[in-house]
Amino acid sequence: MPIEYSQREKSYELYRKGKREGTWDPDDYDLEGDRADWQQFSEDEQHRFLATCSGFYDGEEDVTRTLAPYMMALDALPNEEMPFDTVQEEMYLAQQVYEEAKHTDLFSRYFEEVFETQDTEPFREGGYQEQGYSTDDLYDTADELMAAIDSGDRTELVYALGEAYLNYMGIIEAQLARGGYLTFDQMIELKAEQMGRDVVLESFQEAIGKVRQDETRHIENGRWVLQQLAEAEPDIVADVYEPRIEEYVENRLLADPLYDEQPFEGYDQRKIGKQVTQYLQDTIDYIGADRFERYGDVRAALKERQAAD
Ligand SMILES: [Fe+2]
Ligand SMILES: [Fe+2]
Repeated sequence: MPIEYSQREKSYELYRKGKREGTWDPDDYDLEGDRADWQQFSEDEQHRFLATCSGFYDGEEDVTRTLAPYMMALDALPNEEMPFDTVQEEMYLAQQVYEEAKHTDLFSRYFEEVFETQDTEPFREGGYQEQGYSTDDLYDTADELMAAIDSGDRTELVYALGEAYLNYMGIIEAQLARGGYLTFDQMIELKAEQMGRDVVLESFQEAIGKVRQDETRHIENGRWVLQQLAEAEPDIVADVYEPRIEEYVENRLLADPLYDEQPFEGYDQRKIGKQVTQYLQDTIDYIGADRFERYGDVRAALKERQAAD
């Protein structure tokens, strides 16, 4: 019985917050208006919008299906040797997996009732998953966690958990998903402007707002655990975090934009690039910028890389 209610940690506090905020239901949204709006999108606009939605639909399913080993790995750690209470974190993840299932539920319903398809494949071709670092990788991450649990080696397990949290919460949630929300914001805003309306796809916007709120908690919890693991094994920053961050920077932040042309006139990819660079800095600051050798200051590191290319 390691939980002390009077000594609630970050994960417990986020769990309590989630009990209050995470109670929304995807079934509550009326999609009639969204269906009518969707018919006003051109074929190119629909295809571009569906590319991002398909990444989310697949991604939410992937995160739902691959989170359970994180709980098992935490449970296999010697709690008394760790700087945080692994049981409180397990409680947090129990809530998160339910929320991810609900996000999958939302996209599943929306695809059926508004997009009138369940097929994401045609919209994902040539997409980001071919540039590395996609939610497909989470299945390997989960396998590696299971192997580390079997090894019985504490350092190996902490390292595997650190890599898993970095991939899942540090990159996929904090970078890729949040970049996706910014894409939605721009596409919807530009489409509304073009149609002379204040808002289009109103229910989508509202429901995505709830998903974002859930994800903000997931990201904060993830950053906190990454920091705790760095406290437990300081070398994890140089051995695990920095190489994975570097890979993301190479594949995404320094890569050419995926689409040369945008059907939504005025779409600004550079603006999104700047915002996601700041998100990465926020994660690094949370873990502790002075623990990092090369990425303590993300913008300076990016400049250096660009000058070297
Ligand atoms: Fe999610
Ligand atoms: Fe999430």
